[in-house]
Amino acid sequence: MERIPASGTLRMFELAKRLEAEGRRIYHFDIGQPDFPTPDNIVAAGIEALNHGFTRYTPARGIPPLLDGIEKHYANRGINIDGSKNVIVTPGAKMALFQGFLSTIDAGDDVLLLSPAWPTYRVMIRTVGAKPVDVPTFPGYVLDEEELKNACSKSVTALVINTPNNPTGGVLEKDHMKLIHDLAIDHDFVVFSDEIYEMLVYDGFKQTSMLEIDTDMEHTLVINGFSKTYSMTGWRLGFAVGNEETINNMVRIQQNTTSCATSFVQYAGSEALKGDQSSIENMTTEYQKRRDAITSIFCNMPGVQCVNPKGAFYVFPDFSTYGLSSNTLAELILMKVGITSTPGISFGKYYDSHLRFSYATELSEIKEGLGKLAEFLLSLI
Ligand SMILES: Cc1ncc(COP(=O)(O)O)c(C=O)c1O
Repeated sequence: MERIPASGTLRMFELAKRLEAEGRRIYHFDIGQPDFPTPDNIVAAGIEALNHGFTRYTPARGIPPLLDGIEKHYANRGINIDGSKNVIVTPGAKMALFQGFLSTIDAGDDVLLLSPAWPTYRVMIRTVGAKPVDVPTFPGYVLDEEELKNACSKSVTALVINTPNNPTGGVLEKDHMKLIHDLAIDHDFVVFSDEIYEMLVYDGFKQTSMLEIDTDMEHTLVINGFSKTYSMTGWRLGFAVGNEETINNMVRIQQNTTSCATSFVQYAGSEALKGDQSSIENMTTEYQKRRDAITSIFCNMPGVQCVNPKGAFYVFPDFSTYGLSSNTLAELILMKVGITSTPGISFGKYYDSHLRFSYATELSEIKEGLGKLAEFLLSLI
């Protein structure tokens, strides 16, 4: 347990709860989950599965209709995988990641993280006894080739990338993904490519999957899930795509831990992939409007630097002008303006002048809350 630090954001969360209990108006920009409901057809499929008695254990790897749906999801993008061999369905993408780490990383290994990076990676890597090593990519999640090449030591057995990225919303260009794959071959490490935000991209950006580059999946494990694309965070449904050997190892872990993802949830997931997809476009259209609003507000704030991200639902502005640590600044903004954010230090040691703001919140909240923040920052200057 010494390797697992207490959550850095918990203090902020408790403080916000206390202020809310005192009747203060709080604007939430800390939440990493879509504010849209799960689409009706998916909910109906889950209920139907329950009514049909699909309430038993399933094969550890997942039910055939869902594995088939995942195979088709990639086939539609010209990516060939075999759903019955290259996929495991898990209770959330988090579990796919954890099983992937458990089955490929040894204690004492170094694992590179293109950072800023979602804090969970670091915790999981430490939990398996390995060491997370940051490779900074600021601004905007742009790969620094030299920095990455220099970090590729003998003890590196894996590299984690996440595009679109939490917390920057930045995306990796295809050329950079190719370069990462070349390095993985040269130095014989596995690339964990977390593509959970793959459908949430804006301005017509074409998201590349690592599966398009490493077609035999020898050096790749793709992590994906339903939480973000279909607004299904609480259903707990994710999956991994990789070579047969890695997936079989993960199946062995799943057989002996969670057994399988929840049976009727897997039927709902199958409907999510095979049914009407219009909810995705509706959500991304709305997110793009919010992204436009939030970046233009931050870019006009005094002493704030902000890039315009192409994906996910986060922005990660830099407040270094104010000379405060990200924990202090986040707390000050919460106390004075009633706005929650996530301190940059949670995403890596290089980011203590940043705050993450999630725009999985209504446009009116964004405009009202951040208007107040702009006034407050002006008063600080
Ligand atoms: C980068 C990233 N990967 C994975 C997840 C977790 O997904 P799931 O809900 O499927 O466990 C999140 C959730 O915030 C995330 O931001």
